[in-house]
Amino acid sequence: MSEKLQVPRGTYDVLPQDADTRVALEATARRILEGAGYRRIETPTFERTEVFARGVGASTDIVQKEMYTFDDGGGRSVTLRPEGTAPICRAYAEHGMHKLPQPVKLWYLSSFFRSEKPQQGRYRQFWQIGAEALGSDDPAVDAELIVLLATLLSELEVGRVRLRVGSLGTLDARHAYRERLQAHLRDNADRLSEDVRSRIELNPLRAFDSDHAGTRAVMAEAPLLLDQLDRADAEHFAAVRELLLRAGVEHEVDPTLVRGLDYYTRTVFEFESGKLSAQNAVGGGGRYDGLVEMLGGPATPGCGWAAGIERILLASDGLPVAPAPVDLYVAFGGAQQRRAAFALADEARRARMNAQIELAGRSLKGQLKHADRIGARYVAIVDDETTVLKDMQTGEQFEVDAAGVVARILRERGMR
Ligand code: HAM
Repeated sequence: MSEKLQVPRGTYDVLPQDADTRVALEATARRILEGAGYRRIETPTFERTEVFARGVGASTDIVQKEMYTFDDGGGRSVTLRPEGTAPICRAYAEHGMHKLPQPVKLWYLSSFFRSEKPQQGRYRQFWQIGAEALGSDDPAVDAELIVLLATLLSELEVGRVRLRVGSLGTLDARHAYRERLQAHLRDNADRLSEDVRSRIELNPLRAFDSDHAGTRAVMAEAPLLLDQLDRADAEHFAAVRELLLRAGVEHEVDPTLVRGLDYYTRTVFEFESGKLSAQNAVGGGGRYDGLVEMLGGPATPGCGWAAGIERILLASDGLPVAPAPVDLYVAFGGAQQRRAAFALADEARRARMNAQIELAGRSLKGQLKHADRIGARYVAIVDDETTVLKDMQTGEQFEVDAAGVVARILRERGMR
């Protein structure tokens, strides 16, 4: 035997028992999001690198060191998607979605790729559920999206959730603030960590994320963007908060909330779970009013979020894990009954029953044991002349004409 092969570091297999849970999670997400008018979208697994370089921002960790980028064989650079917002804005521009009634509300459930150091809750291929609303800057869009994510996390029983919100203002306000912050960091450069000091020019906002003691002391005295919002941005933020409070969504305002992507304007938010350790963000997002235009489309406001499925699963107290119920198990004694048994399983499936047939040559006794183990409701034991139908819940048995088995089960089920 040659050496056993394993998946690459930071990736994993979704096994059938895990897939059942994911299907339940997806069904909940679909019900909540489609109920609010969001429609599913799927963009390709890889995009031209430019989409992320321009969209996510050249100074971000994602673009600087976490993208899987390669040549497509024809001299064009492509990248496995590290996130979903920039591709959706690219698709909005490419398909002229600004001509549709606005806002265009979309949701997705897809896998994403970031070359990060793997640990619990952080993988190199991971899955996100996301929602994006493009074409309206109404604060009700931001609030609706946040309420939907809060509802989703609550229905999925994600424990000990905390929501932080902030506002970054417009891109202009952010740029002006960035310069003030850089000046503050330069004035205190000797107290900062090496890492933060080396990124003063490139990404000063990330200094708020540092856990280095000296840096934290400097950041405690740093100017805050939230204190310097212009009137329209401050009113927008106040309106979002008002709607959240009315919807009963508790939140804290965090003026230092920094998200790892450059496209945000105005509202930003993040949901954390106290049930997770280091990687405690279950979902986050915000408004990105300049992104569609940055990717070649018309000036279009937008807002959205994404939540990590692995982290939801880690933080959830009670997701259902039930496999599909088996209505009928078709058992048979010997090879001469196989054809009739096969036809019966096929007929049952066409009548929309979940039906399985013996496929491993077990003895009749073994087949009944197996049917019991997989929770089959009925077992049909196919013989030459007749078929015995056994109700596994009551233990009752009926002798049924082979042609009448499916009808009999349907009738029995209807009576219960
Ligand atoms: P993000 O904060 O980078 O935002 O990712 C959203 C969520 O994806 C995180 O809160 C986390 O749960 C999960 N996640 C991120 N990286 C990993 C990883 N390596 N392993 C496991 N889970 C991970 C975005 O991606 C934005 N596109 C969100 C957005 C949508 N903003 C506006 N619209």
